[in-house]
Amino acid sequence: MRNTGPTKVTRLHPLFGAEVEGIDITRPLSPREFGPIRAAFEEHSVLLFRDQHMDDEMQVRFSEYFGPLETTGSANPAAGTKFQRQSNLDIMTGEPIPPDDMRMIYQKANYFWHSDSSFKRIPSLCSILTARVCPPEGGNTEFLCMRAAWDSLPPALQSTLYPLIAEHSLGHSRDRVQKGILSDKTLKELPPVKQRLFRDNPVNGRRALYAGAHAGHIVDWPEATGKALLHEVMWRADQPEFRLSHAWREGDVIVWDNRAVVHRATFYDPVKYKRFMQRTTIGGDEMTVPQ
Ligand code: OGA
Ligand code: MN
Repeated sequence: MRNTGPTKVTRLHPLFGAEVEGIDITRPLSPREFGPIRAAFEEHSVLLFRDQHMDDEMQVRFSEYFGPLETTGSANPAAGTKFQRQSNLDIMTGEPIPPDDMRMIYQKANYFWHSDSSFKRIPSLCSILTARVCPPEGGNTEFLCMRAAWDSLPPALQSTLYPLIAEHSLGHSRDRVQKGILSDKTLKELPPVKQRLFRDNPVNGRRALYAGAHAGHIVDWPEATGKALLHEVMWRADQPEFRLSHAWREGDVIVWDNRAVVHRATFYDPVKYKRFMQRTTIGGDEMTVPQ
């Protein structure tokens, strides 16, 4: 695809999300070409590009315009690379993985609303997911507008959340799927971290609720009370009108702002269909709270 006209940005939802057209992001971009993409990202939180058939090298090049990439921890099949693999295909053989295999069970944690890498001291800026092989039905990725979620909270609850610190850990989200699923090695690599319950966008000042499946409890609160509060805020955030559901086509690329949205995977039939998505994750540049 050649770049034929000016970049066109079309909203996908009244609150957030936009499709970007008129640009070929599989090839190198000049600062003048990337500028409007970055601005649209800060504004809309989720950007969809269609018909961009990327290989790994193209995806890394496009991703690095947003910032330095995170490398993948030992818990993912793509460990040690710049990719997080969301797939039912074996990384070596390309054959479907049986649904009761631990690699498939582990991926079920993606069914819970989450913000990628919120379990890292410096949480992620954004993630980029490219659709390499898609099932013909199911396997949508869904997003929640956490700016709208924050704005919808009663002011008294906003004031309660303002000074609080949540403890995030990969263990908390994986325990929701199956207790003890993570190896001691992974748990040691990723000690629990502290995060505030909101993140502010440095460009436009928009505040977003910051929670999700990696958040386990509130620091200095009784565990059950903290869990209940985290449950309550996610329940308040999970309104149908704050949700965007994306049905993937091969060649789709989505960039989402981990500061401003949470996302989740949805079911597809892994016996009947193949799904192979590659994710790159762009690191953030600051902690939300001193550790
Ligand atoms: C991810 C993720 C959801 C999906 O890649 O971080 O949560 O639908 N993916 O694969
Ligand atoms: Mn994710």
